[in-house]
Amino acid sequence: ASLSRRNIINHPRLASYAFAFDIDGVIIRGPDTIPVAPKALRMLNGENKYNIKVPYIFVTNGGGRTEEQRCTDMSSRLGIDVVPEQFIQGHTPMKDLAQNHGTVLIVGGVGEDCRFVAQRYGFKDIVTPVDILKWNPHVAPFKTLTEEELKNAKDRDFSKINIEAILVFADSRDWATDQQIILELLMSKNGVMGTVSETFEEGPKIYFAHSDFVWATKYGLSRYGMGALQITIGALYKAHTGKELAVNKFGKPHRATFHYASKVLKNWRQETFEANFESSASPFDSDSEEEEKDAIKTEEPIVDSSQIVADDAEDEIEESINNVLPDASTVYFVGDTPESDIRFANSFDKNWYSILVKTGVYEDGTEPKYKPKIILNDVLEAVEYAIEREH
Ligand code: G3P
Ligand code: MG
Repeated sequence: ASLSRRNIINHPRLASYAFAFDIDGVIIRGPDTIPVAPKALRMLNGENKYNIKVPYIFVTNGGGRTEEQRCTDMSSRLGIDVVPEQFIQGHTPMKDLAQNHGTVLIVGGVGEDCRFVAQRYGFKDIVTPVDILKWNPHVAPFKTLTEEELKNAKDRDFSKINIEAILVFADSRDWATDQQIILELLMSKNGVMGTVSETFEEGPKIYFAHSDFVWATKYGLSRYGMGALQITIGALYKAHTGKELAVNKFGKPHRATFHYASKVLKNWRQETFEANFESSASPFDSDSEEEEKDAIKTEEPIVDSSQIVADDAEDEIEESINNVLPDASTVYFVGDTPESDIRFANSFDKNWYSILVKTGVYEDGTEPKYKPKIILNDVLEAVEYAIEREH
């Protein structure tokens, strides 16, 4: 798009710094939206005294629905637009595994939701625990499939299918059944149900979308999460085979997710930067020479002058658009769980600045196992603090 000076008038300047937010315990808690969260995000969208717009992404360990579905929910809760390009769930980077495996068992979440997510990620052949129970209900002796589950389950002969990988996408709704099936497969001959390996070295690989031991719900105390399930699976596997289980982990605080998040943030900042130019400021949207002159007089630099570009010269701004932006000067990461969020933000890049809030897992007054740069009450305080720190 060709740029004219009037296109950029009245637009908030774009910050060189950025934000990344955890969701559970920061933006929402159980079914509820944390009341100050919408205001915090509106501030980053430009509703602040510095007229500055700050790009942000979400990095949650949660999951169970597609990124599009989650963003629709977030947008209506928060009254702002949240899009998949700024949204990472625990299982989002696992889409890259679609090319590596044939038949996969997808575990966790409500009903058919995770099957749908895996289809969207491009997995070629997806099975779920209910498919296995439809084949043989005695696999889990205390479980009875509901009519809905029976209707959705696929008819397959699991005595003839090699399950190559187990992917735990979201929290299990039935630990007993899921543990039974996962352990049987891990100890099987090549992922075939009803078989037992002699070496315990030929079962499928297992991947977890995250390792959160606990998470914040509406209940006063934190509840066990996927990390706790992971521990029980490892302990049962060891008790049965005498061997350590090799587990592949995604989510915070793991490096693979940090690299993924850094890439998403880089692209999102570039997109935000370009969008800031493309939308025109309507009061000056005319070809009249008079208005063009007025416009130039009142022009503000779109980019924070000390930051992304040196000054407001149009040539330089245009040049910046064509080049990739430099990395964010600081990324403020706001989370509630020291073991996943603060460890994640502290481990890989010195430009990430960890902020721990008190609206989730962290208990006020206790010593966090991983130390944040600062502890604040909630997400709104975190945003206000960072903006003031930058100006
Ligand atoms: O199950 C989700 C929970 O473990 C954590 O989600 O948003 O706090 O990373 P979040
Ligand atoms: Mg959290």
